[in-house]
Amino acid sequence: MLVSAKEMLDKAVAGHYAVGQFNINNLEWTKSILLTAEELKSPVILGVSEGAGKYMTGFKTVAAMVKAMMEELNITVPVALHLDHGTYEGCKKCIDAGFSSIMFDGSKYPIEENVAKTKELIAICREKGMSIEAEVGSIGGEEDGVIGKGECADPNECKMIADLGVDMLAAGIGNIHGKYPANWEGLSFETLDAIQKLTGDMPLVLHGGTGIPEDMIKKAISLGVAKINVNTECQLSFADATRKYIEAGKDLEGKGYDPRKLLKPGAEAIQATVKEKMELFGSVGKA
Ligand code: G3H
Ligand code: ZN
Repeated sequence: MLVSAKEMLDKAVAGHYAVGQFNINNLEWTKSILLTAEELKSPVILGVSEGAGKYMTGFKTVAAMVKAMMEELNITVPVALHLDHGTYEGCKKCIDAGFSSIMFDGSKYPIEENVAKTKELIAICREKGMSIEAEVGSIGGEEDGVIGKGECADPNECKMIADLGVDMLAAGIGNIHGKYPANWEGLSFETLDAIQKLTGDMPLVLHGGTGIPEDMIKKAISLGVAKINVNTECQLSFADATRKYIEAGKDLEGKGYDPRKLLKPGAEAIQATVKEKMELFGSVGKA
């Protein structure tokens, strides 16, 4: 059964570790992540961007696939199905489709409208037992058409949004979606520290988890980060393993072109990446 992300993230804050949000794109991604979470007895959040939801034919298809797969794989660890970087309309669709968690990015609206819409969505989530994430500042780079300037969040604005009653808060602290450029200045721990001091036990979310050095991940967790989003790194692992399979001509041997064989190295590579991240984030054995 899908669960809200609230309980798993509150436990993560108390236990000083982070739960990974791994974005899904298709059946192979979903299965690889669920199997790894179960094997490692780790809670997990499956992230779905609006673009990925559309690619998988719609949020209802995604919710039905995830629920059926959890049942048939006998998944016992806590799993949240979460809309990533959602619009107001996308949030409504995911609520109706049976997701257990949403992220609302209302930064395109004037602040009053953003607050009003956030409050409305919070009330719906409370009623349905779902969790909700809000974003303050902006995550740099681009993810599925969502482009951010990469401005660090204002800690006072974080406090204001946290006080509305969201369950988790994504704050821009110099993090970027996609690969980090060679001249990246790193995370702003000064900003993170100021945000944590004002927001207390609010689980903080670190987007752009691909390629952040281990010491920065650990420091971010020590300053209240309880959810870390990873997307690009699984895509890179999948692409790399698939390329090696094809370049080695394995698709030409026997029935190596059968999609069940062709997609296997990529699926195994995703499992290895997810395992590595869960170990780094400290969520292994926390289910
Ligand atoms: O929302 C999802 C993420 O923030 C993933 O970022 O693609 O850089 O790992 P990433
Ligand atoms: Zn993100």
